[in-house]
Amino acid sequence: MPSIAPRLLCTALLAAAAALAQTGGAPLPRIVQKDGRYALFVDDAPFLILGAQVNNSSAWPAMLPKVWPAIAYVEANTIEVPIYWEQFEPQPGQFDYANLDTLLSQAREHNVRLVLLWFGAWKNGSSHYMPLWMKAEPERYPRITGKDGRAVDSPSPHAPATLAADQRAFAALMRHLKTADQRHTVILVQVENEAGTYGAVRDYSPAAQKLFEGPAPRELLAALHRDAGRGANWQEVFGAESEELFHAWSVAHFIGQVAAAGKAEYGLPLYTNAALRDPLQPGPPGSYESGGPTDNVIPVWKAAAPALDLVAPDIYMSDSARYLKVLELYGRPGNALFVPETGNSAVYARFFFAALGHQAIGFAPFGIDYTGYSNAPLGAARINEESLAPFALNYKLIGPMMREIARLNFEGRLQAVAEESGAHSQTLEFGPWKAVVSYGVPAFGPGSNPPGNPQPVGRALVARLGDNQFLAAGFFCRIDFRTNAPGKQREFLRVEEGAYRDGEFQAERLWNGDQTDWGLNFSSAPQVLRVTLGTY
Ligand code: DGJ
Repeated sequence: MPSIAPRLLCTALLAAAAALAQTGGAPLPRIVQKDGRYALFVDDAPFLILGAQVNNSSAWPAMLPKVWPAIAYVEANTIEVPIYWEQFEPQPGQFDYANLDTLLSQAREHNVRLVLLWFGAWKNGSSHYMPLWMKAEPERYPRITGKDGRAVDSPSPHAPATLAADQRAFAALMRHLKTADQRHTVILVQVENEAGTYGAVRDYSPAAQKLFEGPAPRELLAALHRDAGRGANWQEVFGAESEELFHAWSVAHFIGQVAAAGKAEYGLPLYTNAALRDPLQPGPPGSYESGGPTDNVIPVWKAAAPALDLVAPDIYMSDSARYLKVLELYGRPGNALFVPETGNSAVYARFFFAALGHQAIGFAPFGIDYTGYSNAPLGAARINEESLAPFALNYKLIGPMMREIARLNFEGRLQAVAEESGAHSQTLEFGPWKAVVSYGVPAFGPGSNPPGNPQPVGRALVARLGDNQFLAAGFFCRIDFRTNAPGKQREFLRVEEGAYRDGEFQAERLWNGDQTDWGLNFSSAPQVLRVTLGTY
């Protein structure tokens, strides 16, 4: 009698082959965690999203001719585009895939990947993308009831019909992708957009009130390591935070179920995005969007929505202290950092490097298209080549070595920084070596007491390739190295400028003389150096 093991093996192989055949042979994009670091794997290797998000109303086929030139100009490798529920499900249960199919085919033509943004029940705290047939039945698909009993313009997370409808539509979207996108043009999907509520801390409807007075869920208590005794209600367990946590749990549980319904159809990585609270001086809930994945309730979201792979910050805070704090808060154990939206004015471009320094899997300025719209004062007053140039520089530099940068970051070899207000020099520790980045010094001459650039536009990255070999790149900065060996000084043995081709660094010239005597000075030219160091 044949043993069971070969039969099992055979079944496992057949299952694996079937899974690959379903997806056209390429493994699904996925978030991988190793040694506490994260990467987005696309085609089975780390991938860095050099992203650009279009304006809210720019994913219509008629608008795409005004989108592609901006995407091409910034050299993004990924475009983030909404899928509008009102367009996707014009009648209950009838789905219109036309916009989605257009996006898939045009993204392929333009050689970019897609992050789809499911504008479902929530969009910026409201429900404005619900189809008309839902808007016509507000009792069935209700808004939140505020403390004063009036309706608040935010969908109730305690509405079974809304949940069922959102799950059905999102599942249809993912089911369609599974067959229509076997080559994985879509690498990530955002479930809803900036969920939560402005204008009320929670839902005060009778149904919600009953839940609020009932026991706090055991999964949540376990996740937060709280034990207030069996059956303790929200108020008893969480005191002053109870209303906000109740709403965060309710919204996250709703969205977690929508995500799970989609993932059951097609297992792409999923995330949702946060309208942030001030990370340094948050103020009370209500002064920010309550219930969304703000930094204080990330553990609640993790417990309530396990089908989401990560929660991601939309960063529209241009001062470096706040920006860096947000990166730290969201790039945390248990959460891969992804910046799906950030301001599109010039000051934000340098934070791409800060995000890399926090091991981001991707970064995307918002509102990148030539439809004529600008969301100033959040972003630039006009979107044109001049305003987009700082973002284009980033991707021009990193694009050709995107895979290497993603891999080096996943391996923990890369550090990257952005110029900070008031801090004109930064030191990166690499074991026996330090890399010192300074801003505002001339390309020729000593660089003590760097004054900073007139505007804080500097950015730098350094990656350790070998014991004494580094990759160095950046804009508007000087990078130099110091040895930690006592009594020794660094010597540039070889500074090669070049580029990665097919995974190999190919040198084009050596830097020496003026180009190295004062450290390695980076201007607005996209330059990549491989630096071999010695001591004397
Ligand atoms: C953040 C939202 O997520 C975006 O969709 C957009 O509304 C911007 N705010 C503002 O332009």
